[in-house]
Amino acid sequence: AFAPDQHRPLHGKHVLITAGPTREPIDPVRYIANRSSGRQGFAIAAAAAEAGAQVTLVAGPVHLPTPAGVMRVDVETALEMEAAVHDALPSDIAIMVAAVADWRADARAEQKIKKQKGDAPAPLALVENPDILAGLARHEKRPGLLIGFAAETEKIEEHARAKLAKKGCDWIVANDVSGDVMGGSDNSVHIVTANGTEIWERLPKPEVARRLVQKIIEEI
Ligand code: CTP
Ligand code: CA
Repeated sequence: AFAPDQHRPLHGKHVLITAGPTREPIDPVRYIANRSSGRQGFAIAAAAAEAGAQVTLVAGPVHLPTPAGVMRVDVETALEMEAAVHDALPSDIAIMVAAVADWRADARAEQKIKKQKGDAPAPLALVENPDILAGLARHEKRPGLLIGFAAETEKIEEHARAKLAKKGCDWIVANDVSGDVMGGSDNSVHIVTANGTEIWERLPKPEVARRLVQKIIEEI
């Protein structure tokens, strides 16, 4: 007999995912961003949809097709990403994979900023962006399973465990970005939870996505 729950174990669950970088405008032609390609977040969205979930993918500016069965919301800035995440609630599971820009320009210049001959460039005033993940952890509609990512270049587990506590999420998937991971096709991750740490060495991003979705299915 057909057993839908075996093939669609996340059927009836809403999974909210952020992915990609954010882009913070300085003036009409310039912005602050980072090297995130969005590939890991998009792969997780695809794997969650394959497992039967209803998936909302809030994506920063990336050059990737929308995975089958995924509802995609495109945003540019961290403030837009935060608003889109709140609009998508409630969700059963949230996975914050986006590389949110930590700072934005304090004021966006209306016109292109020009060089002034002989003058030193004006300093760029920055302000901190809201922490979308920490905000979700405190939200009255906090998802039942809240997962953060962390990009680290050293002391991976130590930094990840500190983030788990500071942000109030349930798991941190820590990326070792000391090599060519950012924007690349493989990932090495530490899964840091209250119960301990698992290490997944150098796997293709779609495989990290499938394993993560499998771990989520086992958890809920
Ligand atoms: N994050 C977020 N909003 C921000 C910054 C980060 O939601 N403004 C989320 C990311 O999506 C990720 C997690 O928080 O899931 C950790 O991001 P990371 O940049 O590693 O952590 P930060 O707290 O910004 O610390 P760091 O100073 O190391 O960049
Ligand atoms: Ca950061």
